[in-house]
Amino acid sequence: MADARNIINHRKPSRFPTRRQVLAGTFGFGALAALARIGSGTSFAEETTATDTTVTTTATTNATAATGTLPIPDLLTATDDGGVSVFALETQAGTNTTLISGKTITTAGFNSTFLGPTIQVTDGQAVRFDITNTLDDETTVHWHGLHIAPSEDGGPQNIIEAGGTWSPATTINQGEACTLWYHPHGLGTTAEQVSLGLAGMLIVDDGSAANAALPTAYGADDIPLIMQSTSVSSAGSFAATNAAFTASGATLKFLVNGMSATDETPTLSVAYSRVRLRLLNASLTDSITVALSDGGAFTQVASDAALLPEPLSITSLRISPGERAEIVLEPSGTVTLRATVRNTTNGTRYTVSMLEVSSTGTDTPDALPDTLNTITDLDTTDATTRTFTLSNSGASMLINGIAATTMDIMDANAIMTTLDAVEKWTITNASTNIYHNFHLHDVPFQVVSVAGATPTGANLGWRDTIEVAPGTSVVIKMQFTDYADNEYMYMLHCHNVVHEDDGMMLGLMVMS
Ligand code: C2O
Ligand code: CU
Ligand code: CU
Repeated sequence: MADARNIINHRKPSRFPTRRQVLAGTFGFGALAALARIGSGTSFAEETTATDTTVTTTATTNATAATGTLPIPDLLTATDDGGVSVFALETQAGTNTTLISGKTITTAGFNSTFLGPTIQVTDGQAVRFDITNTLDDETTVHWHGLHIAPSEDGGPQNIIEAGGTWSPATTINQGEACTLWYHPHGLGTTAEQVSLGLAGMLIVDDGSAANAALPTAYGADDIPLIMQSTSVSSAGSFAATNAAFTASGATLKFLVNGMSATDETPTLSVAYSRVRLRLLNASLTDSITVALSDGGAFTQVASDAALLPEPLSITSLRISPGERAEIVLEPSGTVTLRATVRNTTNGTRYTVSMLEVSSTGTDTPDALPDTLNTITDLDTTDATTRTFTLSNSGASMLINGIAATTMDIMDANAIMTTLDAVEKWTITNASTNIYHNFHLHDVPFQVVSVAGATPTGANLGWRDTIEVAPGTSVVIKMQFTDYADNEYMYMLHCHNVVHEDDGMMLGLMVMS
């Protein structure tokens, strides 16, 4: 079995920034084009840590901002190829000249020059993704959270060369209604490529009555919110490292579906009484805590990987990088969602009004179902146990003491399991002040404990990404069903993508 690792293609990661000539100079979503206000220039100090240096950066707030309409990513229409739904994606390079007046910012997107369309699929649907890479550099496209064979998963072994294409195919086999996303997943290039705007949402419908009882009209009462805490350098590039994030002259921008909430609060008017918001933290490193500006309660219906067992009434929701959550609001009049953005050492960068939601609905929706999902507890009596320690040595980010920055290191340290194995993992954050999180490809996991305590709230549902506070552990359990491959690996890693690029990632082989 060990031999299998040696079959893996060895790819040398290449640096990203593309010099490809500029395509259409739009920002992807038309509504953004009109926006171009610079923030007020409040200063703040970044916390000192091993990786975050203390510098003064231009922070912007939108306390006095005007409002503009929230852009909503297009829903990608599939074409039919003999019963297979084919979704065509093309990576495109571009620029943005409106986000910061006087700066030309290098961007990239799928089928646009920033972010990508939303892909909606249903359990049992045969799909293919035809991906063309028009960038000057290689990329990959990973389906974060999708239960899919490792050869189609879009990790570092699925390189799409510059000018090349890749056509992964699968039958959707999720068994859960969930909000997933897609993004590049090369070795050492993820932060840079995601920072440019290569990210999009992937929505899975499981056909369940519970999902149907929630708002499901995309763009009408079912709304994607791709949140990005970004920083733009004085030279006009999105930061892809901690140092660049807070470098002198950098400007922080909080983007919602590509629109700068820092400059103007996005508005959303819905014609229904109830609205479902699918929140994705697509930031490289920052956690985002979402709350209503009046401190009122709202309802969480899903975490990362599935609907929660039952609706959860909450007043704030912390979402670490890569995580998703679905919430439901029934706004009477207008409500404002605020986001508090924190860096990797939990220092608050800023708070921003990220969305103003108003409803003109006169409909009277049924009460939410008491039960949204039934989760059968995995039996771990015969489970293999493993431990994963996330740590740092200065700025180098380690998992089990390893910085896996090359395919050779990935091969030599791959975790080997077998099809249908049930496993129980302890994930420990051994860093003293740096927050990490843990993301597993292939299958979602159940949470056994968080810092020694029985899980509560959103941790009662399936997850694929979970935050691990410094000096604490989480215990999770999972079963590696359906897909095995003796050549292709899944990945497990911290989803602070700067840490991931620094090597806080291991391969996982599910052997038949
Ligand atoms: Cu969102 Cu391994 O990735
Ligand atoms: Cu993933
Ligand atoms: Cu980390």
